[in-house]
Amino acid sequence: MSGRYIAFEGVEGCGKSTHVKRLAAHLDALVTREPGGTAIGSVLRGIMADPANTHLDARSEALLMAADRAQHLRELVVPTLNAGRHVISDRSAYSSLAYQGYGRGLDVDLLRRFNDFAVDSRWPDLVVYIKVDLAAVRKRLLKRDTDRFERENDDFFTRVIHGFDELAKREPERWLVVDGTPPKDELELTIRAEVTRRLGLA
Ligand code: TMP
Repeated sequence: MSGRYIAFEGVEGCGKSTHVKRLAAHLDALVTREPGGTAIGSVLRGIMADPANTHLDARSEALLMAADRAQHLRELVVPTLNAGRHVISDRSAYSSLAYQGYGRGLDVDLLRRFNDFAVDSRWPDLVVYIKVDLAAVRKRLLKRDTDRFERENDDFFTRVIHGFDELAKREPERWLVVDGTPPKDELELTIRAEVTRRLGLA
């Protein structure tokens, strides 16, 4: 039987990375991420994260994200699912709709279409959206060595949060929205219970 493809989404500081690892340990799933889940993807991530690339065009960024994703799906995600193992990815094509679409102002439907091409129509079976507010983003970004992604202003992150909210509303069967504010251990159990229920994994 094919594995299930679960993606975690949310803004910086929402706690995705922790909960990706914890759920994966419970489900014995492969952990991966976008951008950067493959060797080729790591190179693309490096270009996009480099703060020296202040002039990276929004469309170039969207296409680099999609290129990373195409490689990721074909090289790693799909073969793993076909081998019967679950995949848990820190971000997915939905991040492009939120960040390049709502955040940078590119056309969301156009992004949806060319990302559909990138993933060959294999979108996540379930999206776990950990919802936090702008204050959590700001807290996370207090650190000194920020990368290019982390140098955006409050308006940008406010648009991205709104984008995730809208995307979740549009596909309620695919999106599980969880409040990111409870303590980690409590949130871990909530996510575990909801994911196993939604995907019928119990
Ligand atoms: P990370 O901090 O979750 O590793 O993600 C890296 C950054 O990349 C984060 O700011 C979100 C951004 N991003 C996009 O802008 N578009 C995308 O499609 C993806 C996957 C990530």
